[in-house]
Amino acid sequence: MSETVQAEKATLPSEEAVLYPPPAHVLERARVKSYEELYKESIENPEAYWEAEARELEWFKPWERVLDWQAPFARWFVGAECNITHNCLDRHVKTWRKNKLGLIWESESGETRTYSYFSMHREVCRFANVLKSLGVHKGDRVTIYMPRIPEQVFAILACARIGAIHSVVFGGFSVEALFDRIQDAESRVLITADGGFMNGKMVPLKSMVDQVAGRSPCLESVLVVRRTGEPVAMEAGRDYWYHDLAELPISQRPCPAESLDSEHPLFILYTSGTTGRPKGIVHVHGGYMVQVYTTLKNVFDLDDEDRYWCTADAGWVTGHSYIVYGPLLMGATMFMYEGAPTFPYPDRWWRLVARYGITVLYSTPTAIRGLMRFGEAWPDRHDLSSLRLLGSVGEPINPEAWRWYHRVIGKERCPIMDTWWQTETGGFMISPTPCVPLKPGTATRPLFGIEVDVVDDRGQSVEPGQDGLLVIKKPWPGMLRTLYKNPELYKEVYWSRFEGRYYSAGDSARKDKDGYIWVVGRVDDVIKVSGYRLGTAEVESALVSHPAVAEAACIGKPHPVKGNSIKAFVVFVAGFTPDDNTSEELREHVGKELGKIARPDEIDFVSGLPKTRSGKIMRRLLKAQELGLPIGDTSTLED
Ligand code: WT7
Repeated sequence: MSETVQAEKATLPSEEAVLYPPPAHVLERARVKSYEELYKESIENPEAYWEAEARELEWFKPWERVLDWQAPFARWFVGAECNITHNCLDRHVKTWRKNKLGLIWESESGETRTYSYFSMHREVCRFANVLKSLGVHKGDRVTIYMPRIPEQVFAILACARIGAIHSVVFGGFSVEALFDRIQDAESRVLITADGGFMNGKMVPLKSMVDQVAGRSPCLESVLVVRRTGEPVAMEAGRDYWYHDLAELPISQRPCPAESLDSEHPLFILYTSGTTGRPKGIVHVHGGYMVQVYTTLKNVFDLDDEDRYWCTADAGWVTGHSYIVYGPLLMGATMFMYEGAPTFPYPDRWWRLVARYGITVLYSTPTAIRGLMRFGEAWPDRHDLSSLRLLGSVGEPINPEAWRWYHRVIGKERCPIMDTWWQTETGGFMISPTPCVPLKPGTATRPLFGIEVDVVDDRGQSVEPGQDGLLVIKKPWPGMLRTLYKNPELYKEVYWSRFEGRYYSAGDSARKDKDGYIWVVGRVDDVIKVSGYRLGTAEVESALVSHPAVAEAACIGKPHPVKGNSIKAFVVFVAGFTPDDNTSEELREHVGKELGKIARPDEIDFVSGLPKTRSGKIMRRLLKAQELGLPIGDTSTLED
């Protein structure tokens, strides 16, 4: 077992924690009343379980086989044809849900917009027609770089509707990160907006796009949604206003959802890993649709009375699965908020919960910890009694934050669904359903049809209470199909550790005597900063791209709000003398290369880095030293 696992052991909350049984009002309406039975059944025959779930959705052509597993490559619902947007929109428009509110949106400055299922269907068809008029075809990649506005959702769905593959780049990412992702996906079209708003400030998205569009040979058109109304440069023949094209009669025509093979790619989403460059995770229409639908249904028990709010940005997988696709597959009413949680005051979220009568709130430990700092008076000013369930995702939630969330926000009547999953898994994997008794700090048990385990280096299950590696033992419908243009790397990163038998998640975990799974943290060179996933290699190469830096190493350090913060160690090129501004300059440089979230909190100037004899930086030594932990084995140290 690696030392990283050992080192973090002490911080894991007590497994003897008190159980929080489900309150009667939650249990009463829970779809799943008994976890054990259904779980057992689903694991005895996972294909039958998933097949029954798939039957709740509509398919243009039925499958011949549920699963074709040529490890580690899976095909689910083989031979079937479907389109995820048909199930998100058309399926509901045929029923009374046509007039149901699908989306309620509020901007930071307080504007609101609402859409029924009928009007969302219209918007998406129109958007899809505009994409077609720009020459976007089935299989083409489209990059989306948008603020958090309804059109972000419509743009995503519009791509899916015509079988184009969307690659959403979070609006907070830098120009360089956007550039890399456009190149890797070879996108022909980029969808953006003139700008967005965050924290009272305007984010000039279009002018950022202008810095990459000119040097991206694959890019033919830039489609611009008007959001801020600020003047922007439009290059004739390349840049188009969305509202101009949307007005054309050709855009008003019906746009039936393309009938697609269930394995047709739905999206690429880039995420950080051990390797230097972000990896393009590929998800497909059929299996992903089934998993996202089933998991949201079981975990958040959404029904027609609900008003569901996931606070993520649609630019992350949480937003893809549980803002865009999941709630619409369920025919639910969702709420979307454009701005910062503290704008203009730290009670903005609680104000929104009260104003819109939110029943299910799905957020992150880092946001909870951040809002906790402002004290209870802020939430206490608002009526939060509409809430029924709370959710958490992104990193382990520490019991202190869990209890605050449970007591102050949920008034001790809302169970917290701590959902463990990854960009790669497509949907929830380990999570309570509302009937499962909770312990603060654990995502509890695997969901139905999902077989997970905690194993040692040889792949043997470890005893309860022992640390090990988190693995998934059987394929699941929402699993990534490959890494874009790199199936070899897919095999190596996820399946090589146990010779193709198990999927390794890259997390360490421990199972307790009740079978609850406690995720400890990453075992690879990934750092979770405020729940965002960053690779040490990415941050290091951003630092090294600064002319003064010869070498760099980064580690994650526990942080009270962010979970982890980045500490960097840099070696300067010969002859460079740092001054008082150097640290800040390097931080800004990383911000420009990768995005603000990647900026190191601390930078130490050092004369050399600890390396193995083969020249690999030993980050664990830096970490052990920094945190005052045992240094461990140094036999491979060069010097
Ligand atoms: C990594 C995946 C999937 C949505 C957002 C993150 C960590 C995620 C939990 C949780 C403990 C968690 C893991 C995982 N993680 N949720 N509930 N408890 N850890 O997606 O960026 O792909 O990151 O986030 O370390 O491997 P992601």
